[in-house]
Amino acid sequence: MADKLNGQKVLLCVAGGIAAYKALELVRRLREAGAEVQVAMTDGAQQFVTPLSFQALSGHPTRTSLWDSAAEASMGHIELARWADRVLIAPATAGVLAKLAHGLADDLVSTLCLATTAPLTLAPAMNQRMWQHPATQANLATLRSRGAQVIGPEEGLLAEGESGPGRLSEPAAIVAALAGSAAAAPTDAALQGLKIVVSAGPTFEDLDPVRYLGNRSSGKMGFAVADSAARRGANVVLVAGPVHLPTPAGVTRVDVRSAAQMRDAVFAALPADVYVGAAAVADYTPRVPATRKIKKSGESLALDLVRTPDILSEVAAQTQALKLVVGFAAETENLVEYARGKLMAKRLDLIVANRVGVADGGFESDRNAMTALWKDGQREFVAGPKTRLADELIDLIVERLQA
Ligand code: C5P
Repeated sequence: MADKLNGQKVLLCVAGGIAAYKALELVRRLREAGAEVQVAMTDGAQQFVTPLSFQALSGHPTRTSLWDSAAEASMGHIELARWADRVLIAPATAGVLAKLAHGLADDLVSTLCLATTAPLTLAPAMNQRMWQHPATQANLATLRSRGAQVIGPEEGLLAEGESGPGRLSEPAAIVAALAGSAAAAPTDAALQGLKIVVSAGPTFEDLDPVRYLGNRSSGKMGFAVADSAARRGANVVLVAGPVHLPTPAGVTRVDVRSAAQMRDAVFAALPADVYVGAAAVADYTPRVPATRKIKKSGESLALDLVRTPDILSEVAAQTQALKLVVGFAAETENLVEYARGKLMAKRLDLIVANRVGVADGGFESDRNAMTALWKDGQREFVAGPKTRLADELIDLIVERLQA
């Protein structure tokens, strides 16, 4: 796939974050894939890495200023913007995303991005709170709606010692995603411009500061659905419970812990055209979580639990009607019968039933076997990897949207 970058002219813009050091490896990998690379740096980026390092790796002088008359004399910034077949910003900081979303052109990188007509790819990296801030998410949605490809960020330990989404994707993953889009991933006309909200993973309901009620959902199915939809051109928001999975390329991820947080995040992501409720939401949560660790005392312990909001039913009952609401039903027995009951009770357009508690498939597995049901139809999916099943489910969603 990386040969799709062979002969491509890539303008790499490096912004000011600690992840700038990873951009050095990115240059090396892009060149290994056959791309010609020129680098432009913001002032901030130069606080972390030197222009000379990029120059040595790219084989071209590194551009750092709009006002460098020697550089402008050899190739003006407008020429450089025209030279590029693709523009990649890595790391893309919150500041750069904000500038781009608003069309500011007050330094070399922002000016180049405004002056180019080449496809833009963003690999964001920043503190998790900055990433989750509504301003950053709104800027990202704007850039995405203009066609920008977004890669990552990944979940993990950040430079500040906190953990969360905000790490720059690995250079190899960025190059692979860039090569994938250079290969013109088949986009689906029916999914273009469509907004899909997907929930995935378990929820954890805290009992006290150290314990919680959870379940064995891995989130793999929901992540595969989000990935498939984004690859085919949809605008995807993925609301993820506590899972250890990388963010699919081009997907906006919101991490949550409890059912109540998941409900709020899902509703904050609406309006949308399609909702896919793939999360295994806890049905009950403690009435009042203990503020201190619960001490063991008697022979038994009774927990006072109350029902969580049924997110799927609430979404299906929305007055701002979605075009399609899709639920999942994990059952150990009477699969189709129970699933059809849920389809009706929750007023869904489509339900995907899968058997759990079997050796090959279900919650923690990479594989699954599923049956999809709608008002007057049913489709069996041959058992296989969740990634293939996700693609087939997106096919069915497209069919149902057009029905
Ligand atoms: O009723 P049951 O929990 O089996 O329904 C499963 C479906 O309902 C899944 O799509 C799940 O995401 C959704 N659900 C929900 N909120 C709940 C419970 C389940 O959205 N509180």
